[in-house]
Amino acid sequence: GEHLAAFRTQDGQAYVLDAYCPHLGANLAAGGRVVGSCIECPFHGWQFRGEDGKCTRIPYTEKVPDFARVRTWPSCEVNGMLLVWYHCEGVGPTWAVPEQHEIVTGEWVFRGQTEHFVDAHIQEIPENAADTAHLAFLHGPAILGGSDLRYTRSRLWDFMKHIWKAEWWPEPEPNEHCSRMLVQHTATIFGKRVSLMDLTVSARQVGPGLVFLIFEHAFLGHGIILQTVTPVEPLLQNVVHKIYYQKNMPAIIPKFILRAECIQ
Ligand code: FES
Ligand SMILES: [Fe+2]
Repeated sequence: GEHLAAFRTQDGQAYVLDAYCPHLGANLAAGGRVVGSCIECPFHGWQFRGEDGKCTRIPYTEKVPDFARVRTWPSCEVNGMLLVWYHCEGVGPTWAVPEQHEIVTGEWVFRGQTEHFVDAHIQEIPENAADTAHLAFLHGPAILGGSDLRYTRSRLWDFMKHIWKAEWWPEPEPNEHCSRMLVQHTATIFGKRVSLMDLTVSARQVGPGLVFLIFEHAFLGHGIILQTVTPVEPLLQNVVHKIYYQKNMPAIIPKFILRAECIQ
């Protein structure tokens, strides 16, 4: 993995740098101090500019060598997240993360987040999004039973069935890095359709590690789950779900949706 230091300059711009100081290797993320548009190393006080990582000041000398710089990572702050671009061959960003209008305007507000560590390759998680065939079989019996196979088929939930209709397609240029899945969910209890459980979910795979799940419910309102997948090790992913939901809806609704989603 990579060790990074993220900081916000005094005028509010967020930057991401390599954590270790190129001087003698102190960790800028542990005790580094923000000075103007720079971060100051806690060891000997060298200051590095967020924008390009260049050392701009060494407290005990006038001359700052040109090679004194720390690696910077392309990053962006969008929808309440600070995202870092990673490319294994060092290619710069080829696409940008779209803003979700309702989050920016404050119409949808933050209602909680979950965090899991998943033993998988990062590719397996987006592949699962395209695998619409598993929805009805695996998630048919009972959503709230979760994904523990000892209980998903338990009789306890027999009275309730979930019906999924899903479509998946890749997006055309210039968004060929994205895909969409449209899911119509309905549920029956003792064989009767419960329209309260009707839910339309539009899932957009925005990039390999980022999904926007937009929910639409006839009277429980609209909202979004932002899912990020951050590789920690080659076969270990940190998966975070954050939910933003219509401000005028009681917080219990988005909390329920978030729980139902994240235990799948
Ligand atoms: S180790 Fe960072 S300034 Fe010396
Ligand atoms: Fe699933």
